[in-house]
Amino acid sequence: MDFNLSDEHRQVRDMVYNFAQKEIVPVAQQNDAEGKFDWNILRQMASLGILGICVPEQYGGSGLDYISMGIACEEIERAETAFRVILSVHLGLNSMTLVQWGSEEQKQKYLTPQARGEKLGAFGLTEPSVGSDAAHMKSTARKDGNDYILNGSKVWISAANIADHFLVFANLDPGSGAKGVTAFIVERGMDGLSTGSFHGKLGVHAGDTGEVVMHDLRVPAANRVGEEGEGFKIAMSALDWGRYTVGTGAVGLAQASLDASVKYAREREAFGNPIGKYELVQQMIAKMVLGTEAARLLCYRVGWMKNYGMRTTRETSLAKWYACDVAVHNADDAIEVHGAYGYSNEYPVERYLRNARGAVLYEGTREIHTIVQGEYALGYREDKPLRCPPPPAQGYERREVPSGFPAMGRY
Ligand code: CAA
Repeated sequence: MDFNLSDEHRQVRDMVYNFAQKEIVPVAQQNDAEGKFDWNILRQMASLGILGICVPEQYGGSGLDYISMGIACEEIERAETAFRVILSVHLGLNSMTLVQWGSEEQKQKYLTPQARGEKLGAFGLTEPSVGSDAAHMKSTARKDGNDYILNGSKVWISAANIADHFLVFANLDPGSGAKGVTAFIVERGMDGLSTGSFHGKLGVHAGDTGEVVMHDLRVPAANRVGEEGEGFKIAMSALDWGRYTVGTGAVGLAQASLDASVKYAREREAFGNPIGKYELVQQMIAKMVLGTEAARLLCYRVGWMKNYGMRTTRETSLAKWYACDVAVHNADDAIEVHGAYGYSNEYPVERYLRNARGAVLYEGTREIHTIVQGEYALGYREDKPLRCPPPPAQGYERREVPSGFPAMGRY
C-alpha cells in the first residue's frame, strides 16, 4: 500500500488548484449572487484538458488516471461547486459511460468532441415522479424501423440548457421495470427535444439546472448505447463514475470550509485572543480535519480501484455518502466559527453550506446509500461481473478483485 501521490498527481493538483484559485474564486461569490453560469471559466477548463482529463488520448482526452480525475474534482469544487457539477455530468456520467459502453462510432462522434471540450455532455435519468426508484421511469422508447421514438421528460438535469449531447434512458417495455430500460444519446437540435430552466434552488446558483423533454423524438439505432434492456445497468454504472466525482468534489468543499475557518479563527479576536485559541473553536476545526481526511481516503481508494478497472459500486457509494455529509457538517460548523459574518455573503461559507446540501440528495440520496451499505454488509447485495467492465486507466492493467480481497471489510 502506498499513500503517496505520484509526481503526476501533484502536478495535476498544483495545476488545477492554481487555476481554480486564480480564475474561479475571485468571481465565485458574484456569479452565485447573479445566478450566472460563467462560460469563460468553462472554456479555460476545456483548454487545460480538464473536461476530458481521464478520457483516453485516442478519443481526444488527456489520458490521465482516475486519481487525477478525483483530484481535479476536489480542487474545482474547493473553488465553486457549479464547475464540479459540470465535471460530474459531462465527464463522469456521460463521457466515462461512453468510454465504458459506447460503440467505436459513438466514441468518435460524441465522446471525442466532449473530451476536447468542444461539446458539452449531460445525463438524464431522473423524472418528475421517479428519483431514487430509477427502474420505474415513465419515459418510453418505441422501435420504428431503424429508429426509436422517445417520449417523456427528465428533471433536475444539470447543464440541461447548455449541453449539446444528452445520455438519456427510456423504457422499451413500460411496466417491466429495469428489464426494458435502454440508453440513448440524443442531441440538441433534434426534432422533438426541448429543454427548460429550473429556478428556485437552494444552492449552486452559478450552475444551470433544468428539464429535458422528449416529444416523439426520433433517434437512430446507432445512438442506442449498449443493448436493448441494458440501460438500467448502464445508468447504475454511470453513477459509479458520477458518484466518484461528487464525492471527491465534496472533499474539496469540505476542505474549503476548513481553509476558511482556520484563516478566520487566526484573525478574529474575542475576549483578548484570536478565537482559534479557544477550545470550542479548535474542536470544530479538529472535527473538520477528521471528516475531510477520512472522506479523502475513502475517495482515493475508489480512484485507486478504478485505475485497475475494478468495479467500485460499493466503495463509491460509501465514499459519496460520507464525503457529502462531511461537506455539509464542515460548512455548517464553518458558519459557526465565522459567527454572524458566516451568515452573510461577505464570506463564502454560507455559499458552501447551500452548495453542499444538494449533493446529499443527487446521485443517490443519503437514504439510498444507507440501504445499499446495509444490504452489502448483510450479504443481501453483491456485485456481478459486467459485459462491459469499467476500463482501467490509460497505462494500467486490469486487476480483478481477488476473492476475499479486502477492498472493503467483508463481514
Ligand atoms: N453497475 C452495473 N450494473 C449494476 C450496477 C452498477 N453499478 N448496480 C446494479 N446493477 C445491475 C444489477 O447487477 C442488476 O442486474 P441483474 O438484473 O442482472 O441482476 C440490475 O442492475 C438491477 O440492480 P439492483 O437489483 O441493484 O437494482 P435495485 O432496484 O436494487 O437498485 C437502487 C436500487 C440501488 C436504489 C438504484 O435504483 C439506485 O441507485 N437509485 C438511485 C438513482 C440515482 O442515484 N439517481 C440520481 C441520478 S442523478 C440525475 O439524473 C441528475 C443529474 O443531472 C446529476
